[in-house]
Amino acid sequence: MDLYEAMYTTRSMRRVKPDPIPEDVLGRIFDAAVRGPSGGNRHTFRFLTVTDKATMAKLKTIYHDAYWELQETSYAGVQEKMRDGDPNDPSVQQTKRISSSAEHFVEYLDQHPMLIFVFGKEKGESTTFPVLWNLCLAARAEGLGTFITTLLKLRKKDVEDLLEMPEGFWHMHAMIPIGYPTGRWGMASRQPAHEFVYSEKWDEPVTWEAIPNWEEPEGYGRDHQ
Ligand SMILES: Cc1cc2nc3c(=O)[nH]c(=O)nc-3n(C[C@H](O)[C@H](O)[C@H](O)COP(=O)(O)O)c2cc1C
Repeated sequence: MDLYEAMYTTRSMRRVKPDPIPEDVLGRIFDAAVRGPSGGNRHTFRFLTVTDKATMAKLKTIYHDAYWELQETSYAGVQEKMRDGDPNDPSVQQTKRISSSAEHFVEYLDQHPMLIFVFGKEKGESTTFPVLWNLCLAARAEGLGTFITTLLKLRKKDVEDLLEMPEGFWHMHAMIPIGYPTGRWGMASRQPAHEFVYSEKWDEPVTWEAIPNWEEPEGYGRDHQ
């Protein structure tokens, strides 16, 4: 798969089929993942894959509670935007789409064929995230959907105990649900890159404009997230 296509279309895929992921596919995507860089090349990362339905059911309860706690606290503004915002406003529509997708996962977490936990040293996310993102890109190349989640950090101890993790060096950094998507791939829509980049001094705009480097072919275009 073309590198740019993978970069433009590795979106959060929360609706997936329950089909298991063959071991040779896992072998390939983890091999690609660990090619990512780590600070001092010390490989301070560790993965744990969960497929056991009883464990997933417990994780679902934990995730559910953490999700709704967040919606009532830090994300209260998002809930308000969806409730009171203009339904024709594209930004309100986008928020509703993401929320509906996120809530789908809350309800169907245990239907995922696999959840991949990522661990590293305390506050060591800068070393685990390059490897983690390589994993998502390699999964994309294999036709597998993923998405990064960090919500369970709100219940870190509960999750680490459930996974029988010893206290000490390792800390949970993220969980990546993975599975074959039910929907189609689509391109990530983002603000133009030149709006994020400045030149020489803090507030000086750049002189160039972003050039989209990949176009959605026929048959692409997300029907849902
Ligand atoms: C660091 C990080 C943490 C995230 N945590 C969660 C999460 O806990 N639950 C979730 O459903 N999505 C999570 N996401 C996914 C984002 O919501 C998603 O990437 C964003 O809405 C853009 O959508 P897209 O990936 O489809 O382009 C996370 C993404 C990142 C990068």
